[in-house]
Amino acid sequence: MTTVGIDAIEIWTGNLKLDLPGTFAPQKGEDPEKYTKGLGLNASSFPDSYEDIVTMGANAAYRLMDRKGLEPEDIGRIDVATESSFDNSKPVSTYVAGCLEQVYEGDFHHANKGERKFACIAGTQSLDDAYNWIKAGRNRGRAALVIATDTALYARGDAGEATQGAGAVAMLISEDPSLVELSIEQGYGSADETDFLKPNQQFPSVDGKRSVQVYLARMREALEDFESIAGDSHPDQYAYIPFHTPFPGMVRKAGLLGYRHMIRDTEIEDDLAAEIGRQPRAEAFDDDEAFREALREYMDSLKETETYQDWYAKTIDPTLTISREVGNWYTGSVHVARASVLKHGLENELDLTGSKLLVGSYGSGAEAEIHAETIQEGWREEIGALNVDEQLAARYNLSWDDYEEIHDAHNHEMDVDIEPRTTPEAEFVFDGWGRMGERKYTFVE
Ligand code: HMG
Repeated sequence: MTTVGIDAIEIWTGNLKLDLPGTFAPQKGEDPEKYTKGLGLNASSFPDSYEDIVTMGANAAYRLMDRKGLEPEDIGRIDVATESSFDNSKPVSTYVAGCLEQVYEGDFHHANKGERKFACIAGTQSLDDAYNWIKAGRNRGRAALVIATDTALYARGDAGEATQGAGAVAMLISEDPSLVELSIEQGYGSADETDFLKPNQQFPSVDGKRSVQVYLARMREALEDFESIAGDSHPDQYAYIPFHTPFPGMVRKAGLLGYRHMIRDTEIEDDLAAEIGRQPRAEAFDDDEAFREALREYMDSLKETETYQDWYAKTIDPTLTISREVGNWYTGSVHVARASVLKHGLENELDLTGSKLLVGSYGSGAEAEIHAETIQEGWREEIGALNVDEQLAARYNLSWDDYEEIHDAHNHEMDVDIEPRTTPEAEFVFDGWGRMGERKYTFVE
């Protein structure tokens, strides 16, 4: 059977950076460790005044196509996942195609284009669409370009402000992929929730604390659904577990929940029993609240065990390296987590070919999805071609005054024109407005 999955990825970070412990925390009168240790973030990436979801997406896609030696006719679909769109009709993928056509001789007239919306999970849903299109045999040998791009900005003063970020991930989905093959098995956990939404507004309305609980509940449901077809999962089965990462502290909670679930009725639970007892079972309790309290106590003890901490350090922590420096990229976030572990594997000279990932995506509103991936032979070459570290190091470090100006400049309700802080180089930039209110873009050499 044909293997289908991600052949290549490219990452494009916003060109600016907000230092959370150094610049944000003092202004908020907060302990810097709330950000570095609590949320797990050092910095957020920000778009400069000439950047937006189109430029970041097109820049990531151009790097990818250029590196892989692709021409427009090699691409049969362009799907953009975003929750930062500025048009309710014309999809961002048309703008991205327009940008790319400025630098290629060919065009994308025969490529299907669309835009996917379901909060942060839309990036993974677009992967799915591409996978299904290829598996159905409708791709005529062509690959799909999936672009997850967002400017994840919150209203000034919102609790989510510390978790902002901006960037894009471009992925090439093809037959016989070089990076990872996607599993046919997948599980969903989905319910009508109002944890985070943007009812025709740019900045989200967020019930932050509840959103954390909804994330965990839907993720557990998705894992159970995945296991109903893939069989019970065991912590040793997966080399890494990249989760949607709104901030690393969220993944700390998801990792613990996933571990507790996976070790139930295994030799790991047996081995830990002498130290922390066995997991509470619902059947042993008459009262749901008492059961939940017992579970919380078990989790608190589990978290402190060496067995769990070793597993977390090996399986989860390496997924968070890039996220710590960029914040939440919404649709791109789980794909950044995957890139982060593969980069860790490369830097530590690990032999990962054939190893499995369990990938947990989430979007508010809400839905979680779990599937597995198998790392393919070409992963080293693909990940070795990324220049994420250089991009992160080149970002302009915003002062507090800069930050306030930049935030206003990206606020659709404000008409603020500011000087860019950086000079674009070999990239697409926003170039003003057209006669019908459309955005214009140009490539700067
Ligand atoms: P908050 O009230 O600012 O922070 O909001 P907190 O007081 O809850 O503190 C955060 C953590 O830092 C806590 O750790 C504190 O204990 C710790 P926890 O107890 O949770 O493990 N802390 C410290 N640690 C060390 N030293 C200190 C210190 N002080 C505190 N001095 C909140 C946090 C998440 C609510 C906020 O950031 C928020 O509203 N964020 C936006 C919503 C969000 O990201 N939700 C995540 C789940 S939903 C999701 O992922 C979907 C999303 O990506 C959107 C989409 O799908 O489109 C958001």
